[in-house]
Amino acid sequence: MSRTIFVTTALPYANGSFHIGHIMEYIQADIWVRSMRMAGHTVHFVGADDTHGAPIMLKAESEGITPQQLVARIAAERPQYLQGFHIEFDHWHSTDSPENVELSQSIYRKLREAGLIETREIEQFYDPVKGMFLADRYIKGECPKCHAKDQYGDSCEACGAVYAPTDLIDPYSTLTQARPILKTSEHFFFKLSDPRCVQFLQDWTTGSNAQGHKHLQAEVLAKTREWLGHGEGDDQVNLGDWDISRDAPYFGIEIPDAPGKYFYVWLDAPVGYLASLKAYCAKLGIDFDTLLTPGNATEQVHFIGKDIVYFHALFWPAMLKFAGRKTPDQLNVHGFITVSGEKMSKSRGTGISPLRYLQLGMNAEWMRYYIAAKLNARVEDIDFNPDDFVARVNSDLVGKYINIASRAANFISKYFDGQLAYPGDAAALSAHWSQAAEAVRGDLETREYGRAIREIMAHADQINQAFDAAQPWLIAKGLADADPAQRAALQHICSTALAGFKALTVMLTPILPVLAQRVAQELFGLSRSFVWADAGELPAHIAPFKHLMQRVEPTMLDALFELPAEAAAVAAAPAQSSAPAADVAGGLVPGGEPIAASITIDDFMKVDMRVARIIDCARVEGSTKLLQLTLDLGEGRHRNIFSGIQSAYQPEQLKGRLTVVVANLAPRKMKFGISEGMVLSASHFDPKAQPGIYVLGPESGAQPGMRIR
Ligand code: 2FM
Ligand code: ZN
Repeated sequence: MSRTIFVTTALPYANGSFHIGHIMEYIQADIWVRSMRMAGHTVHFVGADDTHGAPIMLKAESEGITPQQLVARIAAERPQYLQGFHIEFDHWHSTDSPENVELSQSIYRKLREAGLIETREIEQFYDPVKGMFLADRYIKGECPKCHAKDQYGDSCEACGAVYAPTDLIDPYSTLTQARPILKTSEHFFFKLSDPRCVQFLQDWTTGSNAQGHKHLQAEVLAKTREWLGHGEGDDQVNLGDWDISRDAPYFGIEIPDAPGKYFYVWLDAPVGYLASLKAYCAKLGIDFDTLLTPGNATEQVHFIGKDIVYFHALFWPAMLKFAGRKTPDQLNVHGFITVSGEKMSKSRGTGISPLRYLQLGMNAEWMRYYIAAKLNARVEDIDFNPDDFVARVNSDLVGKYINIASRAANFISKYFDGQLAYPGDAAALSAHWSQAAEAVRGDLETREYGRAIREIMAHADQINQAFDAAQPWLIAKGLADADPAQRAALQHICSTALAGFKALTVMLTPILPVLAQRVAQELFGLSRSFVWADAGELPAHIAPFKHLMQRVEPTMLDALFELPAEAAAVAAAPAQSSAPAADVAGGLVPGGEPIAASITIDDFMKVDMRVARIIDCARVEGSTKLLQLTLDLGEGRHRNIFSGIQSAYQPEQLKGRLTVVVANLAPRKMKFGISEGMVLSASHFDPKAQPGIYVLGPESGAQPGMRIR
């Protein structure tokens, strides 16, 4: 039966470019959507920018533009990534839209009517210079436990202590450096602790949708039980009411009947899913309200990362339920993407920029295939490993799958004018491929993509083995004087292989949509793209084989990893430029990248660079990129810094040297320990064009601690 499905991915904040984590999630959802469509279901797949909140407001302010201008700039970047990776949202919208204002306010009014909104006075830190209440991330001070300086308002990066911002010694606002004062203000709360909400959430989190799929994966349900208990009377329920208001100045949606109060960004963000669908419905002439009437058959499916489960498994269903709206049918939660087993980090040169990937001319379908091969239905992190990437694309995708067509098609074109013919029981062959495709379709529906790919590759192995065993090249060699039976045998061997190739292409269509489209049209002469039912249709004719897919050059992977200095430039590089160093104005591009936008002397002075002596330097076990440096900045203590310079230096070369360190970079917790600053080094934008990393050093005579100005 044909289903109607409304699918979303998490809405990205509109203050930054997409990173590989976004692209991974969109690829996961896009594969699912394409597979459902191939089965004949109607899918509305929408996204939007998540535009509101203090960080966007402050970033825009620091750039001297309005939040709307910032949002528009980021929105303009989106299509190149989405098109580049063949991610086909039906519609992309914005949470800063009339639809979202109307929907958010209407949901709020319903919650208020249901008696689920209350106001309370709360006391919070306030920046008297900026005239603004401060979220924890804008407050720093001395750790009350270990006395490390410059720790954030919620936890200490040096000793791991967790505390309230009011516990900090000598707190200061990171916006103005002013000492914050405590000030009270009226806040609006969604009463999630109300027994009606708790009961509903206990039911919803353990429930299933009309297809019999659980709303939540087992791990996600387990997580929600930490907050909701098991619904068995004596269970502890740890569900606090949710503070949904923020005071002006705030970039957000006004709370009705509450001047100067705005919805906290996380209230209107998921409503953005509905706003985007509503705008799309208007474009298509579909009735939005009917589509999402509670009880109607439309399925609502959200793809999200594991970091935002709390919002999607608790707040969002409860908001919808008590606003009288349809609740979600399925929450599909994925893990994070790591690189060679480590959390990605630009400063360590382990970041993968999706734009750089495209600019290097790397095939987006390699990435789609690789990510699919790694994904399953659990909330597990997936690892991008460069060697594994090369192996899977070259050995499996090209070596096994593409190879079938390139071997078999030439014989058919050369000796049979493209006509295919099958031995004996063609119906059995057709049934075999229909069943195989049905198994893969089922795996894709349950998001077991890795298993689907393993099955597809096992079929490819079988096809190749059968082809090798039949040795068609030997038959072809003697074909001039061969009897008709030999001729038929050659045609059967190659046709059977090509029927398999067609079926495998159908199975790969959601993952490799562009390649599959070419195969459908160019090789099999279809005027449409594949649907699932095509897998069992044995092809009768092929056109001459054209080259389908290049292998990955392993050196491309080296160029893919950004060096720290390059990260910003990649984001700023002109869209779709094939060479990052190409200068649009035609002039010389120093170091392979354009000079960055102007800054003021105040901007410059924010970066506190100091002379440091390298006391010790060592390799980091388990890392091929990092060196660990012990540095003296004249502070009466030593600092530990990890730097991605292992490819350029032996540790002994650096010991005793003077260098320059960004001393006020917030300490970062890394897999190998805490890094307390950044060592400055020079490198060309394109390490292939001009390899090398050069650590900076002052003239001799400079003393540790001296400032660079
Ligand atoms: O975590 C984030 O990136 C949020 N912008 C996700 C929002 S998802 C939805 F609620 F809009
Ligand atoms: Zn501490």
